[in-house]
Amino acid sequence: AYQCKIGPSILNSDLARLGDECKRMLECGADYLHLDVMDGHFVPNITFGHPVVQCTRKEHQTSKTKTELQRFKKNTMNACVIFRLHMMVSKPEQWVKAMAESGANIYTFHLEAAENAEQLIKDIRMEGMKAGCAIKPATPVSKLLDLLYTQMADVALVMTVEPGFGGQSFMRPMMEKVRELRKVHPTLDIGVDGGVGPNCIHHCAEAGANMIVSGSAIMRSNDPRKVITDLRNVVQE
Ligand code: DX5
Ligand code: ZN
Repeated sequence: AYQCKIGPSILNSDLARLGDECKRMLECGADYLHLDVMDGHFVPNITFGHPVVQCTRKEHQTSKTKTELQRFKKNTMNACVIFRLHMMVSKPEQWVKAMAESGANIYTFHLEAAENAEQLIKDIRMEGMKAGCAIKPATPVSKLLDLLYTQMADVALVMTVEPGFGGQSFMRPMMEKVRELRKVHPTLDIGVDGGVGPNCIHHCAEAGANMIVSGSAIMRSNDPRKVITDLRNVVQE
């Protein structure tokens, strides 16, 4: 199995204390932060937008070069914090610039919402972010494979629940999509998102996913550090 990175989704956290919740997750060993942006249109729920991302980022210094990283040595944890956005919005083109300026590192849009996904990937990179492309459970993986054939992305995100809410159950049949993606793209970062916890992460890892999003399994636990460690250990077995 691949070495998995664990990114807690803060959707089910105390959003009034978002900055603290992010810090808590990083202290518990999170590899990156998964921020769910919802517009009430692409999905039947609303979370937050770039003003909130910007304020949260201010508490976690970004640094893009190695020298900058070294300067942060004492505070490496904050220096390398990766903000990965999961944009569940109808017009993903609209927020690229604002999110880049707010300090996001990875901009994951939904293939179903993009008017011109190839161009969008280029625009995201032009703004200095990595580009991710997500697909909903009903979207065939062939559509994503077609896109990656003409325009490579940095991350492919396979939804394992219907986007909109945390705490739903993991859809195991989606692992077939992960498997197909992995077959064609051995080095691509492939993520799974929705209902992933210690009892199903092995399915994800076996299929070839290496970026694991986990929301309620981590956030609702009274020992999130243990859950993050368990998620890693299951994969290494
Ligand atoms: C669903 C979100 C997910 C989700 C993860 O719309 O994109 O990131 O909140 O949370 P759990 O692990 O609870 O499904
Ligand atoms: Zn998400």
